[in-house]
Amino acid sequence: MFFSPRSLLVSILLSLSMGASGAEKAPDPIDAGLRQQYLRPTATPYPGDDPYSPAKEALGRTLFFDRLLSGSGTHSCATCHSPSLSFGDRLPRAVGDAGRPMAVRSPTLLDVAFIDRYGWTGKFPTLEKVSFAPIMAAGNLNLTEQALIARLSAQAVYVKAFAQVFPDKKIDRENISAALATYVRSIHSTQAPFDHWIMGDEAAVSPAAKRGFAIFNGKGNCAQCHSGWSFTDGSFHDIGVGKGKDIGRGAFFPTSVKLRYAFKTPTLRNVAERGPYMHDGSVGTLEAVIDLYNSGGVDRPSRSELIHPLGLSANEKSDLLAFLRTLSGHTEIVSLPAACALNAPCFSKSVGAPFQPKQAPK
Ligand code: HEC
Ligand code: HEC
Repeated sequence: MFFSPRSLLVSILLSLSMGASGAEKAPDPIDAGLRQQYLRPTATPYPGDDPYSPAKEALGRTLFFDRLLSGSGTHSCATCHSPSLSFGDRLPRAVGDAGRPMAVRSPTLLDVAFIDRYGWTGKFPTLEKVSFAPIMAAGNLNLTEQALIARLSAQAVYVKAFAQVFPDKKIDRENISAALATYVRSIHSTQAPFDHWIMGDEAAVSPAAKRGFAIFNGKGNCAQCHSGWSFTDGSFHDIGVGKGKDIGRGAFFPTSVKLRYAFKTPTLRNVAERGPYMHDGSVGTLEAVIDLYNSGGVDRPSRSELIHPLGLSANEKSDLLAFLRTLSGHTEIVSLPAACALNAPCFSKSVGAPFQPKQAPK
């Protein structure tokens, strides 16, 4: 899926030399240096203490889609991180196993292997931790560690799979977290028209999108935070969104002015397919997101200096929108591992009392 930097460099040089030959086409607003910043990486990083293996990824994928992971058997990780919804759920706020909305929206998991602090406020230090935490959270999957281990241990396919993947053969928190995190690291955005353009195909995006990209890097300041090929600096900022009690990362740094109302910069990969937007789902459409940035949002001491009224014209706003729309790749079909097919449909069959759905909350 990823391409080699060498072939990319060749195509950039080719396209630049073609540009120099004076063929008539829309002005290309990016130079080779800027293009370099948008190259996709060629490999996924895996930590030394949780190395990749195909069998571990397959086990993690099976767990990810298994509703056995939720208290009432109604939810899996994929309920909120659905492959067909760019690994989000398109709800303003996630809805947990008990049917109640959580405080924040389900973020996309696209390219999450490439960031190093997780959750909207960065409260989770590793992908292993943020992959296990939802299982036990009462507002989320709502299952105890003990019950989870008992359920998995009662399934022959799981006993076999854990024994194949892990030298200690154990079905425990550490191994469940490792398998889930290994699958999550494999969740990548797919190549979008933007990438084809970056690789030198001038016809891959419209002239409006190219102008929008110039605004994204210039007048709009967007690339200051939505930087690099995945369009995130992985950091936390107050962009003037959210007026409620949730002060974001500020809750962990009470003396910091700048971290009040600061939330993680989301990737913009597939962004046009992922509304509603922001940590609290408070902004319905991409047009409304652009209007928010254009107005500067809530003016308060914590708001980033990069955020202020932008004075974009109607044409500039639609160019910016055209650019954001070039970041959507195709949806990949996620195939479930054979172990899952054996137990089709993926362990959803009843294993007794724990699977009885709860009464909907009044
Ligand atoms: C009920 C919906 C829901 C379910 C089910 C769910 N998640 Fe999430 N997920 C969320 C929400 C909401 C957040 C953001 C949490 C926060 O910021 O505190 C999140 C955050 C994450 C993140 C961090 C993403 C980032 O950009 O920082 C990962 C990774 C993740 N979930 C993996 C999983 C895995 C693995 C499972 C299954 C074991 C799972 N999730 C189940 C809603 C859900
Ligand atoms: C100061 C850093 C910063 C700048 C500058 C910035 N953003 Fe953001 N962006 C963020 C953060 C942080 C969030 C998430 C805020 C939240 O959830 O409360 C965000 C959210 C978004 C979202 C919603 C994504 C989602 O999944 O919810 C879009 C779209 C977006 N920004 C586009 C832009 C555009 C276009 C510009 C330029 C006009 C821009 N951003 C400028 C940091 C920034």
